[in-house]
Amino acid sequence: MGLRIVFVLLIPPMKSVDLRPATELENAFFTSYCSNGRTVTFFGDAHPYYAGSVVRAMASARNGYREISALFAEDIAAAEQNDTPDDSNEELAVFFARLRQDYRATVVRIERLTPTIVELIVRAPAAARKFRPGQFYRLQNYASTAPIVGGQRLVMEALAMTGAWTDPQAGLLSMIALEVGASTRMISHLAVGGEVVVMGPTGTPTHIPYGENVLLCGGGLGNAVLFSIAHALKAHQCRVIYFAGYRNGADVFKMDHIEAATDQVIWCTDAGEPIVPRRPQDRHWRGTIIEAMVAYHQGQLGMPLIPFNSIHRIIAIGSDGMMNAVRQARKTVLQTAFRPHIAIGSINSPMQCMMKEICAQCLQKHRDPETGREVVPVFSCFNQDQELDRVDFDNLRDRLRMNSVLETLGTSWLEYLLSYEQMVG
Ligand SMILES: Cc1cc2nc3c(=O)[nH]c(=O)nc-3n(C[C@H](O)[C@H](O)[C@H](O)COP(=O)(O)OP(=O)(O)OC[C@H]3O[C@@H](n4cnc5c(N)ncnc54)[C@H](O)[C@@H]3O)c2cc1C
Ligand code: FES
Repeated sequence: MGLRIVFVLLIPPMKSVDLRPATELENAFFTSYCSNGRTVTFFGDAHPYYAGSVVRAMASARNGYREISALFAEDIAAAEQNDTPDDSNEELAVFFARLRQDYRATVVRIERLTPTIVELIVRAPAAARKFRPGQFYRLQNYASTAPIVGGQRLVMEALAMTGAWTDPQAGLLSMIALEVGASTRMISHLAVGGEVVVMGPTGTPTHIPYGENVLLCGGGLGNAVLFSIAHALKAHQCRVIYFAGYRNGADVFKMDHIEAATDQVIWCTDAGEPIVPRRPQDRHWRGTIIEAMVAYHQGQLGMPLIPFNSIHRIIAIGSDGMMNAVRQARKTVLQTAFRPHIAIGSINSPMQCMMKEICAQCLQKHRDPETGREVVPVFSCFNQDQELDRVDFDNLRDRLRMNSVLETLGTSWLEYLLSYEQMVG
């Protein structure tokens, strides 16, 4: 663009702005544009001195804010003297009120669904309005308002949480969390009415086809999020068969929601009380989802309502192990069961920014299913729904375990703090 890096001079007493070519790029934070006292600041990764990394880009803001402060020194001093909000500008006041109303997230209620699963319902109108099934949010509490236990603030790491359901009219959004580590366990300690960070929705809405036969495989928590996808599929005249897998029969929740959005459910449990089907067409299977699928295909659960050779699409959401098992079963024990179909998994890569292709923490390795050769990786926070046959599950498993030491320490520390609180009352 031919912009020169220049710095700013304030010339008293007129306070006019004069830009001069910079001799030291480190201290140059303005482009050459200068018109009627207006200038354009230049920060971040595109700046030649601060290019190269996020840390350098942030350093440009750290060093450059002084230049802006100098430009507005008088206004800042006046504002600091009178730090009550300026309501004289009605338009501005209305604008900020709308921002507060739409973009702040507050906890409405927290419901325990099972001994290890909690539902968090927040009021977050814009986030709820924009949600489409399959998308997720970045949930975190504020350090400044986090509860203090044993002298320690319970501050969460950022959590990726799929939207379970929304009520856009009421501005409500539900997220359902499996309490696996420290941060997910802190959800039940959030204060009702308190503010939380709910960034999103992020990720990509799950593709909802019209008039297809769709097989859903939900493992554990996957069942919390699949019903919004199932609901959307039914609205598009799809026929939906749902294999819902649980470690224990006691883990089941929201049966009504699942039944309302499916033609048939096969409830699968590894242990505990069996789940008693409530509709004539539904079944229970003691064992894994894969065993249940084989039994269903072979007619051991009665005449299949939606035979596998009529399935157009499989969507699996669950642990990496469960989704990999679905991928493999289609090549082995169920090899002849399906006709050509699309098979998608919702890939729960490690995440950090969740801002779609910024930090690269969520990069998922992909391989060509024919040759096994590595191909272009995918940012899972950009699109969590990935073709099962392309995902490198070994890589996913390794990456999901990369923080396991820190996660274990975090959990032990939280347990210690909570037991300490119980001891001292
Ligand atoms: C797209 C997507 C959707 C998901 N949807 C859901 C959902 O709806 N419900 C649900 O329950 N789970 C969901 N998950 C999984 C959920 O995000 C993880 O289970 C959760 O992050 C684990 O948190 P934790 O309780 O183990 O907390 P922690 O152990 O506190 O870890 C939270 C995160 O921070 C990292 N971490 C921990 N300590 C450190 C440290 N010291 N330094 C750096 N990093 C650290 C961890 O590796 C982890 O990624 C989803 C994941 C993805 C990717
Ligand atoms: S999590 Fe940061 S780019 Fe995906």
